[in-house]
Amino acid sequence: MKKKLVIFSGAGVSAESGLKTFRDSGGLWEEFRIEDVATPEAWAANPALVTEFYNLRRKQVMEAQPNDAHKLLADLESRYDITIITQNIDDLHERAGSKKVLHLHGEIMKVRSSMYPELIYPIDKWEIKIGEMCERGSQLRPHIVWFGEMVPEMDNAISIAAEADLFVVIGTSLNVYPAAGILNYVKPSAQKWLIDPGDFNLDYVINLKHIKKVASEGMKVLASELNKKL
Ligand code: APR
Repeated sequence: MKKKLVIFSGAGVSAESGLKTFRDSGGLWEEFRIEDVATPEAWAANPALVTEFYNLRRKQVMEAQPNDAHKLLADLESRYDITIITQNIDDLHERAGSKKVLHLHGEIMKVRSSMYPELIYPIDKWEIKIGEMCERGSQLRPHIVWFGEMVPEMDNAISIAAEADLFVVIGTSLNVYPAAGILNYVKPSAQKWLIDPGDFNLDYVINLKHIKKVASEGMKVLASELNKKL
């Protein structure tokens, strides 16, 4: 029986693929105001600006490649029952070969009806336009969870985290809730790692080891530690 390994990833895992994080210096939220581009109110006030913001991010994701961290995570599937719970909207985990990826904040390569949220469509182009409609005639919007919107996959993520034998946090500032609260649901007995070059005060989390490196380097350290466990 393979051990259950759960990964909780954020923007930092895609930084080495050239995609901006949010809160580092030069991050996305230095360039744009959240309230202008990532809330339902922004969409109501200026759908063209919101559409353009996500079009540009979609273009960058399509031009980016998975990095070694994504690939090393995908490689672990042969030895562990691994699920990746990601806050990222890019598809780099999937493109690196990871099969079980749960997106808490949506997916940039999908759009959905602005009126009927169950109508979700994959897209293979970078640009959607105002005037492109769902099959029932309402405007298509990015399939993204905006600030202030529900996180539909949160309960699913919590039950997965609660089952973890091993739990790895990689490339997230743990600033945004409810996603960041996932750590509280992991068994105290589970072995935990944090892979991030930044500084954290996680003394309250037991059985946690901080690998203070960028994702691709930190994943090499983790992979060798996990190999010793097998
Ligand atoms: N390797 C690993 N970690 C890195 C790297 C790297 N090369 N570069 C930066 N980091 C770390 C930073 O130290 C920070 O802890 O990645 C984290 C990025 O934090 P944020 O920019 O806050 O991104 P994230 O935690 O994913 O944001 C969560 O906020 O804006 C919303 O919905 C958006 O999903 C996003 C959520």
